[in-house]
Amino acid sequence: MLSQNLVWQETVGRIQKEHEELHHSTARFLDQVRQNQPISHLIEAMRHLTQHLKLHFETEEQLMRRASFPGLHTHRLLHEACMNQFRLETDFLGLGQVRSLDEYEEMIHTWITEHMRMQDRRFEDFIGSGVFTRFASSAPPDGCESTSGREAQGS
Ligand SMILES: [Fe+2]
Ligand SMILES: [Fe+2]
Repeated sequence: MLSQNLVWQETVGRIQKEHEELHHSTARFLDQVRQNQPISHLIEAMRHLTQHLKLHFETEEQLMRRASFPGLHTHRLLHEACMNQFRLETDFLGLGQVRSLDEYEEMIHTWITEHMRMQDRRFEDFIGSGVFTRFASSAPPDGCESTSGREAQGS
């Protein structure tokens, strides 16, 4: 049996670690803009950030699915909107359109920082509520997606 605290620590710890890595990617991109680096460098940094976002969203959605998080559908839509935004910005850069540092900072704040603070927090609160623990106690150890949560809930 996994304790509620352990499940919370493992799941939230993984998300927080990836969030820290994402902060490094965003900082790297903003540094490139700040230093007026050539557009090819900005494109590379933006692609790196977008790829990083994609991988993180996949991780997060998988964890939410395992936990039967009721907000998954809405959360996934927000991830999609964010990905669309950053892919669009990569395309703009490819066309030679570079935004100001302020605009990039605002974009990152809105789509990434605030998303983590407000939206991802909902998932952390859900896990902390103990509902996830009842599902997780019967989940396969490798965390495969098909949990038998309903059975666990009744035990
Ligand atoms: Fe996240
Ligand atoms: Fe998220």
